[in-house]
Amino acid sequence: MGRNYARPVSTNPNDLLHEQLAAAAAQNPAAQQPTWPDASALDRAVRDLASYPPLVFAGECDVMRDRMAAAARGEAFVLMGGDCAETFAGATANNIRDRIKTVLQMAAVLTYGASVPVVKVGRMAGQFGKPRSADVETRGEVTLPAYRGDMVNDLEFTPESRNPDPQRLVEAYHRSAATLNLVRAFTTGGFADLRHVHDWNKGFVSSSANVRYERLAHDIDKAMKFMAACGADFDAMRTTEFFAAHEALLLDYERPLTRIDSRSGLPYATSAHFVWVGERTREVSGAHVDFVSRIHNPIGVKLSPKTDLDDLARILDRLDPQREAGRLSFITRMGAARVRDALGPLVERVRAEGGVVTWICDPMHGNTFESNGGYKTRNFDDIVEEVHGFFDVHHELGTVPGGLHVELTGNDVTECIGGSHNILDTDLEKRYETACDPRLNHQQSLELAFLVAEMLGRE
Ligand code: PEP
Ligand code: CO
Repeated sequence: MGRNYARPVSTNPNDLLHEQLAAAAAQNPAAQQPTWPDASALDRAVRDLASYPPLVFAGECDVMRDRMAAAARGEAFVLMGGDCAETFAGATANNIRDRIKTVLQMAAVLTYGASVPVVKVGRMAGQFGKPRSADVETRGEVTLPAYRGDMVNDLEFTPESRNPDPQRLVEAYHRSAATLNLVRAFTTGGFADLRHVHDWNKGFVSSSANVRYERLAHDIDKAMKFMAACGADFDAMRTTEFFAAHEALLLDYERPLTRIDSRSGLPYATSAHFVWVGERTREVSGAHVDFVSRIHNPIGVKLSPKTDLDDLARILDRLDPQREAGRLSFITRMGAARVRDALGPLVERVRAEGGVVTWICDPMHGNTFESNGGYKTRNFDDIVEEVHGFFDVHHELGTVPGGLHVELTGNDVTECIGGSHNILDTDLEKRYETACDPRLNHQQSLELAFLVAEMLGRE
């Protein structure tokens, strides 16, 4: 596993860092990595990545860490959203714009509901790798490597497409750079103006014909008019902060993009502002936890009802030994049926250990099932119910529900059942486009935001 990230003798701090990471990699075999067939092609890709500029900057990660700390204290609320699996073909200007637009629209409603700033985070510009339950997939007589995300191979079921190709790591970097460039342009160039966002939401409300959403939108309208009458500085609301996040899964991508911050001398992942470790790779002694323990970004760990409480305490000690708010988020994905009994013990244990983590609800991954027609889907009502349970548990314990993590797209797909347009099992085939898990479409995403804003308003 010892990758050649660096020349043998170097005083460049990044080369030394990459040597340390390579040494850690050699000691610590990582779960969920592809079997790259061509070692020299991998070395070339990793060396290229190590020579490229950072995608994000340490100072931006520090700002996000402050925002996550505010969310841990209940002074902000986090909204993370985007594709389950980004694809290279899907990284078009229109798709990216529409996803950003959806997150901004949701954030405007949540800001009103929560009466605190919403920390906007795209599950994008790097979400190109997927953990899989098996290394291979068999269809009929044919067995091929499983699809592990566009960063590794292609979804099409042919030997050529499924062959892991390290050049895809380099392609993922370029796609992420182009995506981030659009994110930065859209969120600072006037597109994110709160007045536009509010107008889009009024459009959504009038098409949804739902009196509860109408009432909330009307209240927001009044609040905006009130602010205008008071002479509020709307120019300051023409731009917004927007951060990028993905699962730190493919360590051959993450390690070479880790850099020493010239100001503080500390290592940061520069592939995204925030990275998380998934449910399947959060082994305390595993390579992924080791990797995120070495970087200074704000980080997350996914937790399912299978989480062992002693493991949880060990993860907390390993990743946030100083108990610094903003450093660590626990992203819980319990399932609507389990959240009310399974979440409380985790929250109580973290509190007993002195943890000051940001609790984020992922109401997607515990609610996946196969439809009668054979599609992997989720029911909108289960998603809403899990968020309800998340708020109730935190309310009962007196802890802070800090945010929401959802799989969504700005497009009009049919992947999750339900919502006010009531997508049925039989509708799923109409526009089922995800490369991995089913996403909320634009309409369902906004509905969820309106419903969560009501829950926040009751807090
Ligand atoms: C995901 O977020 O797409 C994912 C695989 O989640 P989890 O690690 O919670 O299963
Ligand atoms: Co997913």
